[in-house]
Amino acid sequence: MNPTTRSVLDLLRRATGRLSGEAIGRDLKISRSAVSKHIGALRREGYTIDSAPHLGHRLCACADTPGPEETTPLLKTRTMGRDIRYFETVDSTNTVAAREAAAGAPEGTVIVANTQTAGRGRQQRTWSSPSGCNLYFSIILRPRVPPRRVPQISLVAAVAVHQAILDHYPDLTIGIKWPNDILTGDGLKLCGILCESELETDMVHHAIVGIGLNVNSTTFPPELRGLATSLRNKTGKNTSRPAVLASILSRFDAAYQKWQKARDLAVLLPYIDKFSTLKGQLIEVHGLAETERGRVDGLTPEGELLLRTGNNTVTSVACGDVHLRG
Ligand code: BTN
Repeated sequence: MNPTTRSVLDLLRRATGRLSGEAIGRDLKISRSAVSKHIGALRREGYTIDSAPHLGHRLCACADTPGPEETTPLLKTRTMGRDIRYFETVDSTNTVAAREAAAGAPEGTVIVANTQTAGRGRQQRTWSSPSGCNLYFSIILRPRVPPRRVPQISLVAAVAVHQAILDHYPDLTIGIKWPNDILTGDGLKLCGILCESELETDMVHHAIVGIGLNVNSTTFPPELRGLATSLRNKTGKNTSRPAVLASILSRFDAAYQKWQKARDLAVLLPYIDKFSTLKGQLIEVHGLAETERGRVDGLTPEGELLLRTGNNTVTSVACGDVHLRG
């Protein structure tokens, strides 16, 4: 947002009643016609401003844009989201974040977009990213942990998203599906997480955790019908995207600090176990080379899935796509 437009917004936000164009202009040392242009720009960005001749302007409703103007004031974080970079359209926020990370962006920088033209999911899938209704964002991380711990970040993020959704809707039944999904009680996908990283044998350059959360979308492309849902479909209410983004970043800030200080994922396992959608289920895990079958026993402290297989041995699986068999 243009800095002067942002200053007009700040004045309107702080005002208790209406503010005249003259008063705004005097404060910001700009003409009344310039004030009108900035008011117009705010309206185009989605702010509802009531303007009455001779009385002035009043901010009635804020925009639902998940950029820094609306999100930063709601943050309860030390690191995450202290720099939020908002884009109307990108190919993929993970791609932009990787570029920014390579250029030196600090830990906690967030790339968020209103729509993606090439949103990516796991295993070469695409991520449907319609404009103006959902959250698509990526967080740049510089974890001081050995590279083998990086895959655990998806589960750290899953915990944070799960907690943040419950902060808004405590009665919603949602679960964590290893390794990276949030599902509703009826098994529909609400959120997907894609963790990508730049590693050396013994050090992590950066990791990018990309999160797609279906917030206010009401329809889905045919290939996702019966598979995906949104907070809007489950609660019947529209949810503020900046408010949910701020909650996720705040929850992630806390979970990530806790995880980074620990030796493994054990600190988060009780939470993941409590809300696991797979615990006790008969499943198939389709890995790159082979398929494992068995009943889920839980997770290892490293975040691998424990499977009790046919001959009653327990095996651990590091990654793969899970399908229920029961
Ligand atoms: C999955 O479930 O397969 C993971 C989906 C991850 C989607 C998000 S949307 C924001 C970020 N940018 C991307 O291109 N992908 C992730």
